Amino acid sequence: MEEKQPVLELENVSVAYDSEAGMVQAVNNVSLKVYENTIVGLIGESGSGKSTLGNTIMHLMKNNAVLTSCTIKVMGQDIYRLNKKDLRKFRWSQMSMVFQSAMNALNPVLTIEDQILDVFFSHDKNISRKEANRRAVELMDIVSIDSVHLKSYPHELSGGMRQRIVIAIAIALDPKLVIMDEPTTALDVVVQRSILDKIKEIQKVKKFAILFISHDFSLVTELASKVAIMYAGRFIEITDSHSLSQSERHHPYTQGLIKAIPHLTSEDVTIEGIPGNPPNLVELPSGCAYHPRCPHAFDLCMRERPETRLVENREIECHLYETVEK
Ligand SMILES: Nc1ncnc2c1ncn2[C@@H]1O[C@H](COP(=O)(O)OP(=O)(O)O)[C@@H](O)[C@H]1O
Ligand SMILES: [Mg+2]
Repeated sequence: MEEKQPVLELENVSVAYDSEAGMVQAVNNVSLKVYENTIVGLIGESGSGKSTLGNTIMHLMKNNAVLTSCTIKVMGQDIYRLNKKDLRKFRWSQMSMVFQSAMNALNPVLTIEDQILDVFFSHDKNISRKEANRRAVELMDIVSIDSVHLKSYPHELSGGMRQRIVIAIAIALDPKLVIMDEPTTALDVVVQRSILDKIKEIQKVKKFAILFISHDFSLVTELASKVAIMYAGRFIEITDSHSLSQSERHHPYTQGLIKAIPHLTSEDVTIEGIPGNPPNLVELPSGCAYHPRCPHAFDLCMRERPETRLVENREIECHLYETVEK
């Protein structure tokens, strides 16, 4: 098998927000590699830091966000070392993002055509109108929307169609990495399914890497080959998705997520949730942030934050597992 190159490399990434209540530690020392032509899932409850991490990779952070020293490389390029001009070129052409709720953020006074063409013109001053138009039609074809809708305004399209447009804009310049932040969350189940199938289909052809962000565990495991599970800003487990149905040796939080998937038995559907709430990110619990909710917690968990250890090739932050196999 040929050696794959990492498209995205995160090393010790931490992001905090300066807020009235104090520093909100939204992302807490995460590391991850995403290789070309793969889909990696990022799963976590609402407020666990997923969007913050996505926005940070895009170098589009909110004003009160503080990034501590870390490495974020896309295609081997440390994006925080790019000057503004090069960063603008890099964004959308090498890496792009489908932002959370983006389908509701399309410009209401511009046609779909204008919004797609804008991507081409802002990246290539020399592109002809004719060529840009040709590519816009091609993009519409890729996301399976009739090109007559290039003349439509966002409000004239259904939610599913608007989401396809947002995806078309994200892939317009053939980026190597596409971050998708909850791309189907606002849609009903049938539309969600068709968008997911479309994403899979396009990825197969274009072979870009996807960081697929979602709070929906079953969705992520269906799509991704590798999954990072985020809890209170940390990756408490990074696992291949295959082993999520194969093995019991996971982080207790991961086990809780697995159990929370509705199990269809012959007569009934059972859903077991995880009791308790995610912690306050301004004042994290001592030791392992999951310990107040963890059914297996013991005294060490309250005292010491567990280092990452390898358990059958999964990276797990949990004291239940011995620090071996490193
Ligand atoms: N601009 C901001 N200022 C202060 N806190 C913020 C800001 N944006 C997000 N947060 C907080 O950071 C944490 C992570 O948020 P977010 O990354 O949006 O999580 P997720 O995408 O997993 O739901 C949450 O506690 C959220 O309230
Ligand atoms: Mg989010």
